[in-house]
Amino acid sequence: MKVFADGLLNGKVALITGGGTGIGKATALEMARLGAKIAICSRKQEHLDSGSAALKEAGADFIALPCNIRNPEEVTKTVDAVLARFGRIDILLNNAGGQFPSPAAVLQHKGWNAVIDTNLNGTWYMTQAVATKSMIKTGGVIVNVVITTERGTPGVAHSGAARAAVVNLTRSLAAEWAQFGIRVLSIAPGTIETEGLAQYPPALMEQVKKRIPWGRTGNAEEIAWAITYLASPAADFCTGELFTIDGGARLYNDVMPIRKIKKE
Ligand code: ADE
Repeated sequence: MKVFADGLLNGKVALITGGGTGIGKATALEMARLGAKIAICSRKQEHLDSGSAALKEAGADFIALPCNIRNPEEVTKTVDAVLARFGRIDILLNNAGGQFPSPAAVLQHKGWNAVIDTNLNGTWYMTQAVATKSMIKTGGVIVNVVITTERGTPGVAHSGAARAAVVNLTRSLAAEWAQFGIRVLSIAPGTIETEGLAQYPPALMEQVKKRIPWGRTGNAEEIAWAITYLASPAADFCTGELFTIDGGARLYNDVMPIRKIKKE
């Protein structure tokens, strides 16, 4: 589906972490189609290869850079490499992240720290580097991909703690950096059909799907469109907000099950 006008992002430069797969890749392709120059980064070479192949096929002007966002020196090098190639960064999508399911009681410090380091610290290293090296001079938009945390995140407590912190960081920076013309936003996708879902047991996924009022999982393009809107001039008055796109899952607690009504 073509949602946005051709050329909407002409001349813009977008840096997308975790840009080789899933939501990051879909957003990279959509923004490239709209005229943006694209930098993707990822910790895994096979993800860079898959993102690069898709961007090449789409005829995009892009670079793909290896980067572990947990390492601030690597983040600095990555941002410098994007600036050396394209001269500016207008859009930063902090999409890289992840978690592993574990009861909180048995979480080892190593696992806890790894999840906090990637989802919170990595997001911050990237955000600060892009802002100070480019956006403070030229303005821009930062979109942070998180998960819904408002009812807690039992089973992935480490990730919920990190993501809730990113949502709060988004609000602080939106207010502090408005003076530089930098908008900062969070987006919380619900259950989206991407490579990342494969790590969860199929039986668990069936339970999750039953609790989505809209009756289906989402797809990466639906999130890419929302991110593209937020990064576009159409959202110029929009900053600090958290957008949840989850088919209503956030609103449904099944103490009182939703009764299915037969259609005529
Ligand atoms: N995706 C998941 N973890 C990552 C990390 N540490 N660096 C970059 N991309 C990632």
